[in-house]
Amino acid sequence: MWDYTDKVKEAFLRPKNVGEIENADAVGEVGSIVCGDALKLYLRIDKATEKILDARFQTFGCASAIASSSALTELIRGKTLDEALAVTNQDIADFLGGLPAQKMHCSVMGREALEAAIANYRGAPIRKTDAERVVCKCFDVTEEKIRRVAMDNHLTTVDEVTNFTKAGGGCGECKPEIENILAAIWSAQPPLKPLKPKGMTNLQKIALIQEVIERDIRPLLQADNGDVEIVDIDGNRVVVALRGICSGCSMSEVTLKSIQDKLRELVSDDIVIQESR
Ligand code: FES
Repeated sequence: MWDYTDKVKEAFLRPKNVGEIENADAVGEVGSIVCGDALKLYLRIDKATEKILDARFQTFGCASAIASSSALTELIRGKTLDEALAVTNQDIADFLGGLPAQKMHCSVMGREALEAAIANYRGAPIRKTDAERVVCKCFDVTEEKIRRVAMDNHLTTVDEVTNFTKAGGGCGECKPEIENILAAIWSAQPPLKPLKPKGMTNLQKIALIQEVIERDIRPLLQADNGDVEIVDIDGNRVVVALRGICSGCSMSEVTLKSIQDKLRELVSDDIVIQESR
């Protein structure tokens, strides 16, 4: 029996925003019933402000999938699309007071449905393309997804990856490959979070920002044929230019936010990232 929080139980028993939006402005569909979970997210969007006026869902899944979907819709209603894209799978889990480790994949599914719906609204392709290599055939999980979820959530073991993506949770054949992917990620970016230095001078802060971008961010973007360059550093404002596949990508807001998160984690809480136009 899973140890669910009261909020998860409440959201499962009385989920909010269930159902379809007729003629929705955006629809995001992820998962598949064959793999056990599926989620369809509908959005009504104000065209002038890009505000999410209504968000509803239909899901086929367990209590955590229903609770995560309900939490997602509550979190994004009233937000602009860019603000909604800043909602992480951890935000969904936190909204519910936490999820059992083995059920974190439900929060990831919510986040993916949101990305898919916004990509649908903006006419952009959703993340998974035919070019992406499927690592886990049992659950149709790609290398790109494993890398992204592992980095976003600081996952270091195959079991953690299974909890967050289901990859490795079937026949187990893909586990060595998942291990290799994790080894490659964390050899470029150690998962241990060093303490943020205190009382830095401006020059020390600039040097640390440059170091973190070179050591912890660029290698990961370059591995996906993207890149980032620092254009300017003015106090806490870091102006960057996305390059390669990241430039003009519909998910550039997400990339910028993850760069900002990393700099806030390793340099200073008040770093603000801006994209050079
Ligand atoms: S291929 Fe990944 S669990 Fe079977």
